[in-house]
Order: sequence, then C-alpha cells, then structure tokens
Amino acid sequence: MRLRILIPAALLFRGPATAAQEAPEEPTRYAVIPRPAVLAARPGHYRLSARTVVRTDPAFRAVARRFVLDLAAPTGFDLAVRPLSAAGAGIVLRRDRTLPAEAYHLDVTPGGVTVRAADSAGAFYALESVKQLLPPAVYRAASVPGVAWEVPAVHIEDAPRFPWRGAHLDAGRHFMPKEFVKKYVDLLARHKMNRFHWHLTEDQGWRLEITKYPRLTAVGSCRPHTIVGRHVQDPAKRSYDGRPHCGFYAQDDVREVVAYAAERMVTVVPEIEMPGHAQAAVAAYPLLSSRPDTNPGVYTAWGVSPFILNPTDSTVAFMQDVLREVLALFPGPWIHIGGDEAIKDQWKGNPAIQARIRELGLTDEHELQSWFIRQMDRFLTAHGRRLVGWDEILEGGLAENATVMSWRGMAGGIAAARAGHDVVMAPGSHTYFDHYQSQDQAREPLAIGGFTNLEKAYGFEPLPKELTAAEARHVLGAQGQLWTEYIPDPKQLEYMAYPRLVALSEAVWSAPARRDYPHFLLRLPRHLARLDALDVNYRRPEGVAPVP
Ligand code: ACM
Repeated sequence: MRLRILIPAALLFRGPATAAQEAPEEPTRYAVIPRPAVLAARPGHYRLSARTVVRTDPAFRAVARRFVLDLAAPTGFDLAVRPLSAAGAGIVLRRDRTLPAEAYHLDVTPGGVTVRAADSAGAFYALESVKQLLPPAVYRAASVPGVAWEVPAVHIEDAPRFPWRGAHLDAGRHFMPKEFVKKYVDLLARHKMNRFHWHLTEDQGWRLEITKYPRLTAVGSCRPHTIVGRHVQDPAKRSYDGRPHCGFYAQDDVREVVAYAAERMVTVVPEIEMPGHAQAAVAAYPLLSSRPDTNPGVYTAWGVSPFILNPTDSTVAFMQDVLREVLALFPGPWIHIGGDEAIKDQWKGNPAIQARIRELGLTDEHELQSWFIRQMDRFLTAHGRRLVGWDEILEGGLAENATVMSWRGMAGGIAAARAGHDVVMAPGSHTYFDHYQSQDQAREPLAIGGFTNLEKAYGFEPLPKELTAAEARHVLGAQGQLWTEYIPDPKQLEYMAYPRLVALSEAVWSAPARRDYPHFLLRLPRHLARLDALDVNYRRPEGVAPVP
C-alpha cells in the first residue's frame, strides 16, 4: 500500500541540463507547501486570462471543473473545459498511467500549463500546486480586480511519501457546524491531506443521527451546561456556564460532507467510540450501561467518564446496528471504533460482567474489551471494511484485521506494525494540536496542556527507526488531532490547527531529504497570505508575517 518514490537523479530533469534547469529553487517565488519532490525553476511565466481553455482527459473532467469553479470568484473568469482534442492553448490535463497513485508532473511555460497524472488525486494535487503558484488572492471568495494572474514557469515532479495524511476533529466535546466542517476539509485538501477523521461520539455529546435509535441524538446530543475553566476532578469544586450545548449531524448533513470531501480527494473516517467515552450513549439508552441502576445524563465536565458500555450480546447488536447505518453513510474503507480510555471500574464492580468474563473464558477486563472489539472487527470485515482503533486495542489482544492509531507515543504503532497490522501515527507528543503553541501560556487561550510549537510539529517523523523495511510498510502515515474540550468554536479551532497542520502536511507528504525547517519558513509568509485570503484564523508564528 505504501508508496515510495525513488527518483534516479538522471530522471529528475529531462534533456541536457541548462543554467535555468539548475537554478536553485526560489522559495518565495515557488512557495509550494508541502514541498514537492522535484522543483526546477524556469524563466518566465504563464498568464491566465478569460480566454484560457482547460483541455482535459475525460478522467479528469470533474477535477478540471472544480479548479475552474474555485478560480471563478477571485478572477471573474469563466474558463472553458474542453476535451483534449479541442483547439486552444492554456491548461492541459493528460492521463499518464505510468505515474504512481496521487503523483503528478507539472510543467508551466510561457505557452501554457501541462499536467500529467495517473489518477484524479494526482491531477487535483497538480492544480492545487498551480493555485499556490498564483498570487494568494486566488484563494479569495470574492472578485479581486487588477491582479495579474501569473503562474511562474516551473517543472515539478511530485508524489506523497505516505498514503494516510490526515487530521482529526472532535465534534463531541464541542459541536462544530457543518459549514465549518466543510471548510476544515477544504483546507486539508489544499495541503494535499487526504483523511478526515471525524470524531462523532463522546461522553459529552453524541453527534450523529442514527435512525434506528433516535434517542442517541434526541437525548445524547445535548448537555444542560458545561464546566467553566480547567477541569477539576472534584465535582463539588466545578462551576458551570448555565447554557445548554447541543448539536448533531443529520444523515443528510453527513452525506453532504462526505460528497464534498470526495470531490477534494478526502476520505472521511468516522469514529464511533466504544466501549468507553460512551456516557452520552448510556444517558440515551441506559440498557447499554455497565451501571444500569443510575443514569448520569450527558457528561458536563472534561476528563474521562467512568460510564462505559456493558458488553452484553444486546449491546453488541445495538452497536452493530449503529455501525450498519454508519457503513451506509461513509463509503470509505476505514471505520474507527475508538477503544481508548475505557476505564474498567464499572466492569470490575459489576458481578454480571465478572460472570461474563468467566463465561467467555477470558482472564480479565482487558481481554473482555478485546473480545468486544473483535465482535466489531468481524462485523466490519464481513462488510468489507477495516476497523481502526486507538492503541489501547492492543491490550488484551489485537483484533485480526485492526489498524492501530498510535496516540500514546509511537510504541503502540511499533508493536502493531511488528505484528503485521497497519498503523497510523498520531502521537500526543507531536500531533496533538490541542496543546499549547507557546511556552508563554498566559498569553494563549486556555488549552489542555502540553507544548507543541510549529518547529516541533514540522519536525515530526512518522516512521520509527526501529522498524525494518517490511514492518515500515505498515505505517500508512500520520495525522493531527484537534480535541475540543478547550476549543469552543471554529475560530479557536483554526487558531489551534493552523499553521501546525501546514507543518504536518509537509511531514506526511515530502520525502525526508526535502524537509528543511528554514526552507519551510521562507515559503511560509506567502502561505500565510493564502490562509488570510481563505479567512483562516491561524496563530501567527513569532517573526513571520504574511506577504502577497
Ligand atoms: C485519546 O487521546 N484519548 C485518543
């Protein structure tokens, strides 16, 4: 599955070398992020105009139309999309089946733009690079008169290092409106990221409509109030904001987001948490609870709730019913079932659950959790999908077909890869973007803790040295996490996510030899101007200002 690009030096440039081909990259003129595998500056530029025609292989017509639509607002051009056989100079999209998945070649000369790619993703990424070569105003949503829409001439050969380049969004702690979710996905695509991990259920809120079990959202999507300030363990010491917090995605909303993401080459990976982080679910359906004698309501504080699912046959059937609806909504291969931080106290204290451990021939609560996850793994496998879980699913034995998301450092990922399982790296140390971005915490909005500045995010290496080449092939890639206990709204979400996700995009796309923080910082000012044009409330890194 893993794509490795090995480009012999002799193939990097076609034909005899000229001074122009050997010109060093000019990071401010060619501020492409993530950094392409090969970029050779050329003299001159191509100027887009209202007469530019996009001629395309039929396979890339949708990609061409998306590009033309994106350009229409800022430029005012309504560019024609025609078949390859049509006449006219401009932008040409050709299919080249010899290129790897998601790869592209891009040539810009004063006479036009030529893209070659094997698949839609490659063509899409080529045109994203073209947009980055245009003035940042190309990202504006309204007409920008008086701009020369020039693409500097260049030769680019590019392909991603990893197939999984993702970002997560916790819509459980704070509901994030559908329109913002689409903007978040759009921003991922502009960074050539291709996985959106949508965290949909939590102790503090169940956010996905399930038609068979309407109380999941009727009850579980609303909490009466929310703890104010930093979480405290002692309930008597908490104070609350006195306002309900509610929200969920109707199935039509989900279909809209999934289709929007697909147009941008992003696969949505939904997460339905089990058996832990389930207080909102048990508040809605107390029969699911390991403490059926008491209904805790939807959780109103942070931290991890002890209310977890009771792993009876009827709970297994209930959660598989939920997954059946999830499968119908999310066509991608991966379904995330959580599996993290399931506090086992209620299982230890419940005689019926202790009897179940013995009846199933298991030794302890970890094996019981593993048994429960296996029921989901078999169900998803039987439906042609892949289960993903946080690294706790290793405890008590890993389900046969599980993919592991390693968050408590890299160790879980290393163990899983060694056992022949696919892995996505998501270590708290480098990829939790709910952490502080500065050590001067007093000047930052309240955050959960930690410290991951831009340089640290940039420096993240997804592939552990400990793995052999065969084991390393199981590392699909990595992703950034945006947990929202202390992120109440989209603006603050953007502040925490950007520009760290920009740095991560290069860590998951660009080959190690192309990763260079000082070079990234030279490209960043122009990229920040793009984020300004896109109305992203990013945190401005110290000493770096946007330039047009
Ligand atoms: C996690 O941060 N509990 C996956």
